[in-house]
Amino acid sequence: MRILIINGPNLNLLGVREPAVYGNTGFDSYFEELKEHFSSIDLSYFQSNHEGDIIDKLHEVGFSYDGIVLNAGAYTHTSIAIGDAIASIQTPVIEVHISNVYAREPFRHHSYLAKNCKGVLCGFGLNGYRLAIQSFT
Ligand code: DQA
Repeated sequence: MRILIINGPNLNLLGVREPAVYGNTGFDSYFEELKEHFSSIDLSYFQSNHEGDIIDKLHEVGFSYDGIVLNAGAYTHTSIAIGDAIASIQTPVIEVHISNVYAREPFRHHSYLAKNCKGVLCGFGLNGYRLAIQSFT
């Protein structure tokens, strides 16, 4: 089973960025834990701060992988194009947010992606990625 995690803008700064909201763990070390936990899954990771690169990656893997876990960061709340890309591919996508976006500013309450996703997880911290992968197994 092949699963790709995609993190969007500013998520390269996890562990450093607003630790009260996003925690103290960097994604690279968490990804190592995930690979150990799901040792039978072919798990890969891509991060980009650029909307078009995220769309290109969705197109690249979205007809051959078994699942995509996507935290599109702030693009969740702005990007019709990423929402359309999710609708255009065959691989199911799960939208993940580390924070509980519904307990935050109103502009974070709307997602242009959720409608085209298999499911949405938010507010579980980094555990959300694990839960999303689990749901594909
Ligand atoms: C986020 C929530 C978004 O609103 C924010 O722009 C992010 C991170 C989260 O993981 O909680 O960059 O997607």
